[in-house]
Amino acid sequence: MIIVTGATGKLGRRTVERLLERVPADRVGVSVRDPRKARDFADRGVRVRPGSFDDPASLVHAFEGAEQLLLVSLDRVGEECVTGHRTAIDAAVKAGVGRILYTSQMGAAHDSRFQACRDHARTEDLLRATGLPWTALRNGFYAASALQFLEAARHTGDIALPADGPVAWTGHDDLADATAAILAEQGRFEGPTPPLTGAAALDFGAVAEIASRVTGRPFTRTVVPDGVFREQALAHGAPAPIADLMLSIFAAARHGEFTTVDSTLAELLGREPVPFGALLERAWAE
Ligand SMILES: NC(=O)c1ccc[n+]([C@@H]2O[C@H](COP(=O)([O-])OP(=O)(O)OC[C@H]3O[C@@H](n4cnc5c(N)ncnc54)[C@H](OP(=O)(O)O)[C@@H]3O)[C@@H](O)[C@H]2O)c1
Repeated sequence: MIIVTGATGKLGRRTVERLLERVPADRVGVSVRDPRKARDFADRGVRVRPGSFDDPASLVHAFEGAEQLLLVSLDRVGEECVTGHRTAIDAAVKAGVGRILYTSQMGAAHDSRFQACRDHARTEDLLRATGLPWTALRNGFYAASALQFLEAARHTGDIALPADGPVAWTGHDDLADATAAILAEQGRFEGPTPPLTGAAALDFGAVAEIASRVTGRPFTRTVVPDGVFREQALAHGAPAPIADLMLSIFAAARHGEFTTVDSTLAELLGREPVPFGALLERAWAE
């Protein structure tokens, strides 16, 4: 069986949907913290079992019979994140999983300026240490994250953000499609994949041009000093660690950590990834 965690989240759900187009439902299982949210999968013949990263026994049960396990990384940072991943990896070993696939991120490195990429590097070390076959999907930076940063600009027309660098923004749907393709063709990648990215690395100056073209409205790009951005985030109610986490994305982008563009995603999809402009147009039409 192929078992997917986080299957009621954005990436996990899309991945299961794509997987069901490639393999019979009775070969697919999900490990979710709230099985009620996965009722539609159960109705289609997918095995649904409760699995919480805070409850090791539940994970061992949910991972039972998995030839492959897709471990969707937790939406946490730092020690709390790595501890959750360690729990899941230990449970996978206990359950006798054949291969663990993990949603890492491009730029995963112990010396990354972005905390999440340091957490991914530590998790990849844990996977390496299991001695099991493993694959780290080095996913491109979610285009959805760029769209979150653009939320104010969508209304003001001014992209007022810290100094940045080019980022190979990548869509959830394309990543899910590629992940399903990798799962369906077992063992295609050993260890970290090449970066799975969109076709272009864009800084927010380039994004302003794209937003202008797509919407027909003028968009400007204003560089906000890091300290000012932090104060603004705090004033809008963001906790200090979140404000610092956001700033660290810009620092890492300035350092070129998310700049690499790679053709592997396109090869897996059999077509070009959806360009950022199309993703923005679709999101802003909603
Ligand atoms: N590549 C990138 O640029 C990038 C950017 C941001 C985040 N990420 C990472 O990618 C992951 C997946 O992205 P996404 O958009 O699908 O995020 P998401 O929609 O927030 O999904 C996270 C999933 O984790 C599940 N989860 C959280 N805590 C859990 C726990 N204790 N036990 C079991 N499951 C738990 C959630 O369950 P529920 O459905 O019950 O809530 C959800 O299904 C994120 O969690 C994050 O690690 C990557």
